[in-house]
Amino acid sequence: MVTVTFLTPPMRDKIVVEVPDNTRITLLNLMKRFNLPRKCCGEGKCGNCAVKVMPLRKSARLVSLSEKEKRELFQAGKLSIEECESVQVKDIPPRWRLACQYVVSDEPVLVAF
Ligand code: FES
Repeated sequence: MVTVTFLTPPMRDKIVVEVPDNTRITLLNLMKRFNLPRKCCGEGKCGNCAVKVMPLRKSARLVSLSEKEKRELFQAGKLSIEECESVQVKDIPPRWRLACQYVVSDEPVLVAF
């Protein structure tokens, strides 16, 4: 079981979701299940589903970015050249991710938007 915590300013309280192990679900689909809608394409083409994803463990290893996600985050102004290099060279995940592309893993995360 992994914990995904959603936090967004209009909400008074955070939403904490327990996701069973080996559940292949994107953050966007998880958000839809809990009525946290975003106006977006759902296909990795609009950049409107960008959310901040923060690991809740120090030793977290988050899933790396696909070229498609890098391109959309860069075009949406959510990924700098420096962060892009950190992703490629040091395997450090960026602050922003596309909710439609980020598949929930075994890392507990805080998702803010
Ligand atoms: S839903 Fe459009 S980029 Fe993610």
